[in-house]
Amino acid sequence: MMPRILALLAALLAAGLWSGAGAETRQSAGGHYRVSLDAKAKTPWNAMQSWRLSVTRADGTPVRGAAIEITGGTLDHVHALPTRPRISAHPDGGYRVEGVKFDRQGRWQLHFDIRAGGIRDQAQFEVQASVAVWASLDDEWTKDELTVLRSLWIGSLPKPPPDPTNAVADDARAAEFGHRLFFDNRLSANGQVACVTCHIPELAFTDGRKNARGVGLMARNAPTIIGAAYSPWQFWDGRKDSQWAQAMGPLESAVEHGTSRDWIIGVASRDLDYRRRYEALFGPLPAMTNAAGIDAAFANLGKAIAAYERTILPAPTKFDRYVEAVLAGRTPAPADQFSIEEIAGLRVFISDNQGQCIRCHNGPMFTDNHFHNIGSQVVGADADEQGRSDGIKSALADAANCRGAFSDAPAGLCAELRFAKRAGAELAGAFKTPTLRYLVRTAPYMHAGQFQTLEDAIWQYRDVPPATVGETELTRLPMSDAQFRQIEDFLKTLDGPIRAPEHFLKPPN
Ligand code: HEC
Ligand code: HEC
Repeated sequence: MMPRILALLAALLAAGLWSGAGAETRQSAGGHYRVSLDAKAKTPWNAMQSWRLSVTRADGTPVRGAAIEITGGTLDHVHALPTRPRISAHPDGGYRVEGVKFDRQGRWQLHFDIRAGGIRDQAQFEVQASVAVWASLDDEWTKDELTVLRSLWIGSLPKPPPDPTNAVADDARAAEFGHRLFFDNRLSANGQVACVTCHIPELAFTDGRKNARGVGLMARNAPTIIGAAYSPWQFWDGRKDSQWAQAMGPLESAVEHGTSRDWIIGVASRDLDYRRRYEALFGPLPAMTNAAGIDAAFANLGKAIAAYERTILPAPTKFDRYVEAVLAGRTPAPADQFSIEEIAGLRVFISDNQGQCIRCHNGPMFTDNHFHNIGSQVVGADADEQGRSDGIKSALADAANCRGAFSDAPAGLCAELRFAKRAGAELAGAFKTPTLRYLVRTAPYMHAGQFQTLEDAIWQYRDVPPATVGETELTRLPMSDAQFRQIEDFLKTLDGPIRAPEHFLKPPN
């Protein structure tokens, strides 16, 4: 190699500009220019970049004195470049691109608008902004932080609490039966809706819709059922106090399955396999004229569905493997090592003086299973939804609650119902804190699906909109925009497989 090139190489290396992979060359959209940019294939983010750009004609002659403008943003066009970069002529005949900064990870698109000698043309490049430094942080967490990390870790998640209101809650035969019911379209008015319509295993048991759609359109967003067995209250407003009572709701809802208990028991009675499964668990099916018997049998089907749902649990994610390693004083496996941003996001998430997210999203399910008013920007018809203040009234009045005739528990055991707050300003507009596991797959977010993206859902905590009902519990947080983005990076580490018997994630055969 010639000494001059070596010197150049050394200078590039010293300046941190050498890409290793070399510059990328593109033909401009109109075919007038060949444009090459020496951005690294993986560019560190939140660091000012400076690159070399060269522009030549098709025959290789350099284009000098061009007026070049650069714009850019994330690939989904949601986020524009946070800086205003400049392009200037380089003494060697090319151009210098300075001041590009990516303030978040992911793929970015850069757009160069080039004008020279009356010819205008464009060229586009894609750059992957990623973290350059991978810290080994076994001992960077304080003792207090480690305690919090342990509390969020899936290793701290016990078995779902027993459900004394459901005698078959942990009966494997009931779960098998419930699996079949969960996927059964026949249990709907139009033969097209099953629980799985809105709770799709691949979408972490949600449906990807803003508002769930069954026989009709619902006002609410479908939450995941993964780990819902840990919650003493079901639904966004907690109007049911058990999973079996919950399961009875959609079957008779005009907008979900659109049927009646008579219809459901009729289907079960006519299906020999169902009849057999039912009778092995609960005894003979009632005659279709026995209204009280049908009520009880309907509750029993709810109990079988609940037994199935209790087996749908979270499995360890990158977050859990990272924490497990940190707690054990090990270096996490390379794939489980947190990036600087993920660590920063986690730290802010758990901090008392910054994100304060664990005020409500705590424990291994990242929820306190409680109800809070966070404003959450509902507009239109749903803006006056009362949330918990209506939910608790319904739960108390529900014939299928813990104290009702179909409950298998002695009434004295119904502590949740007994000690639940029944009135108070803080119940107005309050909704159940959702789990933050699997968020990557559960968009849109919040009880009415009011936010399409995770970023928007998190932004709520930056902007703190006034509540449309009652008062929000949120206050403005002393955090930078970058820190909110770091929280998003961290939350994405909470996605992973589902822990359940393999065949329960697929239609029964
Ligand atoms: C049409 C779509 C749809 C169908 C069908 C449906 N769900 Fe849901 N599910 C929802 C929506 C929406 C919510 C939230 C409703 C609310 O809170 O008011 C929900 C809530 C739940 C919850 C509460 C989770 C929690 O954490 O509070 C469970 C459990 C659940 N559904 C299970 C079922 C079962 C079991 C069936 C079948 C019997 C079923 N769903 C049928 C849309 C649906
Ligand atoms: C005061 C309690 C509280 C605090 C503090 C809190 N949250 Fe929430 N969070 C909630 C409630 C309640 C909801 C559901 C609100 C609704 O549906 O209207 C929610 C919803 C969410 C959702 C949407 C999840 C989904 O599946 O729809 C995300 C994401 C979220 N919170 C992240 C955060 C982050 C990040 C922080 C810290 C900056 C935080 N939360 C702090 C109570 C809280």
